[in-house]
Amino acid sequence: MTRSTLAPFPRWACVLLLAGLLSAWASNAPAAERAALETASAPLVIAHRGASGYLPEHSLAAYAFAYALGADYLEPDIVITRDGHPIALHDLTLDATTNVREVFPGRARDDGLHYVVDFTLAEIRQLRMFERIEPETGEQRYPARFSAALGDFRVVTLAELIELTQGLNASTGRDVGIYPETKFPAFHEAAGHDIAAIVLEVLEGHGYREREHRAIIQSFEPEPLRRLREEGVRLRLVQLLGENDWEMNHVDYAPMYTVEGLAEIAAYADGIGPPITRIILGVDANGAPQFSTLVADAHAAELAVHPYTVRTDALPEGISIGDLLYLLLEIQQVDGLFIDQPDVMVEFLRLLRSPQRATWPRDMR
Ligand code: G3P
Ligand code: CA
Repeated sequence: MTRSTLAPFPRWACVLLLAGLLSAWASNAPAAERAALETASAPLVIAHRGASGYLPEHSLAAYAFAYALGADYLEPDIVITRDGHPIALHDLTLDATTNVREVFPGRARDDGLHYVVDFTLAEIRQLRMFERIEPETGEQRYPARFSAALGDFRVVTLAELIELTQGLNASTGRDVGIYPETKFPAFHEAAGHDIAAIVLEVLEGHGYREREHRAIIQSFEPEPLRRLREEGVRLRLVQLLGENDWEMNHVDYAPMYTVEGLAEIAAYADGIGPPITRIILGVDANGAPQFSTLVADAHAAELAVHPYTVRTDALPEGISIGDLLYLLLEIQQVDGLFIDQPDVMVEFLRLLRSPQRATWPRDMR
């Protein structure tokens, strides 16, 4: 199944809904008090794989651009090299985002793919990283984005990304955070790597140790998060929620969406990261948006909610970016969003907090 399918969403219905709710917005108590990971700046703009809507995901350029566009947090997915280095990449394999097939012919596994855990960091540094393609066809996943034919981007380590962030924090006076995801802990464990421990070591080595520090660890697998908490890690932890039928998944997510399951998550984590489609379920016969109770249930359990992933160029069918942001941020009061185009959320929040909000959402369309 895909991660971002919603039923058609008539704009007129949303306009009517929004008109009725704009006045209520002004008197809403801040959600921050109840559950946000950070009360000062919630909702958080979380730059998904950097400003990946504009530059190749996980490139240093994409992270620097996300920083400049006003993101609160920079999100890297993390995988581990053969020699134990955490690097910023989404896939366990290199085929969709690098020229590994040209540089290392003959190094694929039986499935034809080149796995990060089979390559040293020195080898991976030889690769050109580019905008995501479909490896079998060469077509770009998002055709209107940065051309995969352009640029000489290189894979970066978690440490290099942190140092970019901390360097920019020093030179700008801002305090942008880092929000790493430990990818496939069970796969890494089978390959001899404790990815949660490796990521934690790099974070602690760069000064991130306390709850108020600007680092959040996220994972789709609960066990590493539980273990970190049991071991006394004070950094904030976010449990990502997925779907049971996803490829390579071995986690039963169904109980996690229940009130009881959320209470269990709250015992070791500070927030959840659910798919948007688990919050906005579609529309009813009159075209009115239908929501689950997930956000309210999570907030009742004192869990922050950071849904994924907003992409202005891959929106759910029938919904505009303005409507989507409004429904998530204002109606549902989520505490942050993973977004490929962080500037769009920054601008949305600026408008929402300004006197111009009376004219919104038409301005956003
Ligand atoms: O980590 C939140 C979101 O990024 C999860 O989706 O597949 O892009 O890592 P993915
Ligand atoms: Ca991620």
